[in-house]
Amino acid sequence: MSHSTLTTLMVILAAFTQYALTQGPPDSLTEKFAGLDFLNTGVGGGLNDIPGTSYTMTQRDWGMLPWPCYNTAFIEGYCDPHDIEVWDVTYNDCSEPKVFCRCNSSPMSMDTLATALGQIPIAARQWIDTISSYPAVGQCSAWNGADHLNVFGDCSNYMSVWFHEVAHSLDYWVTDTSDGYYSTDELAEWSAIVLNGTCVPDNYSKASWAESWAQVAVMSAWHANVGNIWDFGIGCMHAQMDKSIEQLGSIWQGIENATCERWWESDDWELVCMGDDARNAGFCDGEDVQGSSSRSGYGGDIGHGRQGVGKGGSGLKERPDVNPKVEKKRKEEELARKIRAEEQAGLKGGKTRARVRRGEKL
Ligand SMILES: *[C@@H]1O[C@H](CO)[C@@H](O)[C@H](O)[C@H]1NC(C)=O
Ligand SMILES: *[C@@H]1O[C@H](CO)[C@@H](O)[C@H](O)[C@H]1NC(C)=O
Ligand SMILES: *[C@@H]1O[C@H](CO)[C@@H](O)[C@H](O)[C@H]1NC(C)=O
Repeated sequence: MSHSTLTTLMVILAAFTQYALTQGPPDSLTEKFAGLDFLNTGVGGGLNDIPGTSYTMTQRDWGMLPWPCYNTAFIEGYCDPHDIEVWDVTYNDCSEPKVFCRCNSSPMSMDTLATALGQIPIAARQWIDTISSYPAVGQCSAWNGADHLNVFGDCSNYMSVWFHEVAHSLDYWVTDTSDGYYSTDELAEWSAIVLNGTCVPDNYSKASWAESWAQVAVMSAWHANVGNIWDFGIGCMHAQMDKSIEQLGSIWQGIENATCERWWESDDWELVCMGDDARNAGFCDGEDVQGSSSRSGYGGDIGHGRQGVGKGGSGLKERPDVNPKVEKKRKEEELARKIRAEEQAGLKGGKTRARVRRGEKL
């Protein structure tokens, strides 16, 4: 191979690699807004003013935690597992409760948490599994890992963040793709739609294709519940908006008396002992403690005793007349794939806490 051929090949390879590594909308697209905060409030109301759904709630006994709550709190070091309260919140539009795990130093009360989630219309809310709330140094931020929402700081007036995080689940569950996230699995389609226009919603939309899809989804949530999004002069992202409204318009819409069509079983997750203090106090029924989750040093290794995987959402229940995209028996496999996809899409933070997946720049 001649030197010039090799050089040409290397240039092509470099160009290809660059293309393949393109993780999201290119910088050449302009940013229509400085974040989507402005959708939360407004003269005629905003996302924050969407009426909530009434609920009742009960706190579980101290001592054991649903596995996903323990896992996130402990592995990520967000909260001493002993300090987590577990609540079952039953909204009046679904008989199966949602499980909330609240670090007791979180600035959000259980009522502000339950109210915020209850402002998400049931057709979308039904795809969320557990909700965890932690304190944070900064303002509101959140991430969604396999339908488990993790909310940091005070997110009570940031419904755009809640819609954004729920959108990540809708990207997987309600879009027309059989095997994963629309935004990344149908990348050829979504990227073409984005590149059809000349702008994206905001800077954060450039973080990844998944984030760009979720930010447009926040705008379609506003369109479905608050006002006419086209009034903002968004012709530069016409195709993105059209697609989002087509995909999510009816899901986002709050419909009077609507009820859930499917749900995650609230007792689906294996219960894990909070740690040594809980076991020594006799609250764990002889269960092994994962890692060394004592109050004085809960940051030990995780892994002995149990496998580091949950039950994989095997309790997915559907009504017989619902024909969901994904069958119950495939759920476990899909959960694993989904977590991988999220890691690739940067949706799920590891121990490095590359985790801030908030709705917008705050
Ligand atoms: C963008 O999408 C519109 C339809 O929404 C289509 O008419 C137009 O040809 C597309 N433009 C490009 C550059 O793909
Ligand atoms: C835009 O977002 C990127 C990450 O996606 C971040 O590094 C950068 O600081 C942001 N810029 C502004 C002006 O916020
Ligand atoms: C919702 O339920 C209430 C109480 O049952 C009923 O009065 C009302 O007509 C219902 N609304 C719709 C749109 O079905």
